[in-house]
Amino acid sequence: MILLDGKKAFDFFIEKIQYETDLIKKNINESPCLCTILVGNNYSSKLYVNKKNSICSKIGFKTHFIHYNNDISEKLLINTIKKINLNKNIDGILVQMPLPNSINTNNIILSIDPNKDVDGFHPENLGKMALGIESYISATPKGILLLLEYFNITIKNKHCVIIGRSNIVGKPLSMLLSSNNDNFGNATVTLVHSYTQNIETYTRIADVIIIAVGIPYFLKANMIKKNAIIIDVGINKIFCKKTNTYKVIGDVDFNDVKEKSSYISPVPGGVGPMTIIGLLYNTLISFKKKIKYGKTL
Ligand code: GUN
Repeated sequence: MILLDGKKAFDFFIEKIQYETDLIKKNINESPCLCTILVGNNYSSKLYVNKKNSICSKIGFKTHFIHYNNDISEKLLINTIKKINLNKNIDGILVQMPLPNSINTNNIILSIDPNKDVDGFHPENLGKMALGIESYISATPKGILLLLEYFNITIKNKHCVIIGRSNIVGKPLSMLLSSNNDNFGNATVTLVHSYTQNIETYTRIADVIIIAVGIPYFLKANMIKKNAIIIDVGINKIFCKKTNTYKVIGDVDFNDVKEKSSYISPVPGGVGPMTIIGLLYNTLISFKKKIKYGKTL
């Protein structure tokens, strides 16, 4: 079994991003700027936004952080986003999800300028991706593609089973992996979800399994074939009685599955760090387009 070490891949790609950023800064004394918006005080969301901002700062990206209370109105949030859309100094906008129930998430996504939608959530970007037109690919799918690339895993000709059909992971990934592209696509993709009966019928014939369901220990060794490639996108916080603390685990029963798999990504330290790489690449792309054409993608 080979561990798909996301921290190692992260170090490799961050160096490339930093090199490019430094080069541009030397030439024109400008650097990319990411605007993050956090609504409410969800502990994990706060942690993720802080992490993104601290890595941005480390590699010389500028950051602009906006924090609202849970009770902010949808209208005010949209007005803020509209202002940022027009701000030429900001290259990327990220509204941390999930948002409070009082806010319609789709309305927020629709209000973001697709040229600054470095999350790749806007229908214009999702639609372009579906058609194979250059667009922002959302951070998690992009991070997974880069993780596979780093470990020289091609999925062409392979049977990929994706468990979970979220707009952020499962749906875009199913489009990307089945697209007519030899670099990251041309796989046969089966997308299974909560209404699929006998999921193990599909997972047992999969060469690659990508799971994002938010259920700890969901994938067991008896659900996979020998030497399958396992990518765990799950992030679940569970209470550990032994240590009296919370710990983060994935959707895969790692200890059960690891010896039967050929490659497996751990949680933490697998897909997680790579999602940040996906986001930084998108922000850099937006910034480079602005420099080249005076506008973003
Ligand atoms: N919450 C969990 N994952 C993501 C992500 O990729 N982008 C945003 N904006 N929020 C998230």
